[in-house]
Amino acid sequence: MTNGVVPHFEDHGLIESVDSRVLPISNKADSEIQISLVIPTYDEAANIEQLLRSLHTVLSGTGTGFELIVVDDNSPDGTSLIAGEIAAELAGIRVLRRTGATGLATAVICGWAHAQGEILGVIDGDGQHPPEVITDLLAAMDDQTDVAVASRHLGEGGVSNWSAARRLLSRGAQALGLLLLPGTVGQVTDPMSGYFVVRRDVVTHTHLDPVGYKILLEVLARGEVRRVAERPYVFLERQRGQSKVGIGHYVGYFRHLMRLRLYPLRSRALIRYLVVTGLALVADALVFFWIFDSQGWNLTRSAAIAGEGGILLTVLLHDLWTFAGRAARSALDRIRRLVGVQLALGVLLLLRLAVINALVNWLGLGPLTAFLVALAAVTPVSHLLGSRLTWRGVRS
Ligand code: GDD
Ligand code: MN
Repeated sequence: MTNGVVPHFEDHGLIESVDSRVLPISNKADSEIQISLVIPTYDEAANIEQLLRSLHTVLSGTGTGFELIVVDDNSPDGTSLIAGEIAAELAGIRVLRRTGATGLATAVICGWAHAQGEILGVIDGDGQHPPEVITDLLAAMDDQTDVAVASRHLGEGGVSNWSAARRLLSRGAQALGLLLLPGTVGQVTDPMSGYFVVRRDVVTHTHLDPVGYKILLEVLARGEVRRVAERPYVFLERQRGQSKVGIGHYVGYFRHLMRLRLYPLRSRALIRYLVVTGLALVADALVFFWIFDSQGWNLTRSAAIAGEGGILLTVLLHDLWTFAGRAARSALDRIRRLVGVQLALGVLLLLRLAVINALVNWLGLGPLTAFLVALAAVTPVSHLLGSRLTWRGVRS
């Protein structure tokens, strides 16, 4: 801020030094404190005082025990020292100075790992998130609700005066998220929100992988979330200091999405998944050769029966082997899955039959060649896609 000159503030011994390790979020320790709100900061010397004062006033008004935890990455502008000054004056403020690490997501997790409250939250340290909205978020946390998110895309919510290009980029990123992670991103209108609260149980003993900037995605994808509530807010313009979001964050966001996309299928399940897909393909081909070649059935009918055999084998093996031992194994659940996979793959099977016929009739390929080409082109996609869609809700 001040041309590299760090203003002198006294460190009242209130600043806790923490290192860069990512600690797990444990069970609740202190019964006095209900809410722990983390404020990640990097070079927010010009904003932190006003924010802390406003939040302190707003939260004091609710009558619930709270703590405000500033997690500062040893900002060169002396943010932590200013926060330390306020902490000496107002009760319920903690300042963690983290050395050896930077990154918004890790800072938030670091704050939560040191927090005492039953409800954990996060708010930006630059004043862009209106402090009074925290009361709406807390009020939304009823017995059934695990997460409450402040949203720019709901009711009265919005952004102050963003350019069309910035709005488009933000919406584009959201659309990409919806495409890659419909189950997670589709739960909220503002998946990019950096202003939300979450019940502690949701994230204890969950391995939060702090790769991205978007900690909310991590919570929604990996936590055991029942209901999500949203409350509108207007994302204010930054009055002082600079945003740390650059093009690198968009790349990071994409990587984050991909990682979460692969997550439920990691390790053993993924290998079994691929084995089943491979087996189904082989079975499909063998059945086809047998009925078409030795039994002399017609092409379309043979391909249809073989394809259907592959579908049933996939369903059976996934249910009994790939995803065995997971929750929701009721008979109804199995039937629902069977119908779902049948529908998804049935449509693609029709596509395959059309491809085979087109190859034979229009390109003059031999029936066996046509079958193999169609098998290679359509079937792996259909098996992966169809099963992926239908086992989506199954978690490890
Ligand atoms: N400790 C720490 N370490 N804090 C950081 C770091 C870091 O490496 N990088 C950024 N912060 C802090 C900033 O000081 C600020 O308080 C907050 O994180 C948000 O950073 P900004 O750089 O102001 O981000 P933004 O305004 O572009 O975007 C924010 O709002 C979006 C809309 O709600 C972020 O919160 C986004 O995650 C959010 O989606
Ligand atoms: Mn900001």
